[in-house]
Amino acid sequence: MKIVLASDHGGINLSKEIADLLTELNIEFEDIGCNCADSVDYPDYGIPAAEKVANGEADRGILICGTGIGMSIAANKVKGIRCALVHDVFSAKATREHNDSNMLAMGERVIGPGLAREIVQTWLGTEFLGGRHANRIGKVADYENK
Ligand code: RB5
Repeated sequence: MKIVLASDHGGINLSKEIADLLTELNIEFEDIGCNCADSVDYPDYGIPAAEKVANGEADRGILICGTGIGMSIAANKVKGIRCALVHDVFSAKATREHNDSNMLAMGERVIGPGLAREIVQTWLGTEFLGGRHANRIGKVADYENK
C-alpha cells in the first residue's frame, strides 16, 4: 500500500510523527509537504494529495492541518475522494468499515501524537465491510457523477 502524506504549516509536527510511524511500519509513502513553518494555504497541499489518490498514484492519503477541517473539506472536493476527519479510534475503525474512506484528516491542534498514531494504525488496518455500506457510498458516487 502506498500512502500520500500532506500538511500545511499547522500540521508539520504531527505530519513528521506520522512519517516516522509509516517508516517504522515499513509502509511506502510520499510526503508532498509543506514541511515548512511559513504560513501556506491547505488547499495547495490537500488537493494535490487527493488527486494522487483519485488517479491511483497513491492507494490512500493522510492529511494534517491545524484542525483537519480545511484539509478534509478540500480533499472531498476531488471526485472519488472520501476523506474522513477523525480524532478518535472508534471513528477511525468505523470510517473504514462503513465509508471505505480513502483519505484521513487529523488536526495537530486537536489531538496529540500518541492518539494520532493509534488512529492511523487502526485506519490502515481496518477493511471495508461492503454490503449495505457499498450501496450507500454508491449513492454518493452516483450524485458525484451526475
Ligand atoms: C491554519 O492557521 C489553519 O487555519 C489550518 O491549519 C486549518 O486548521 C484549517 O482548517
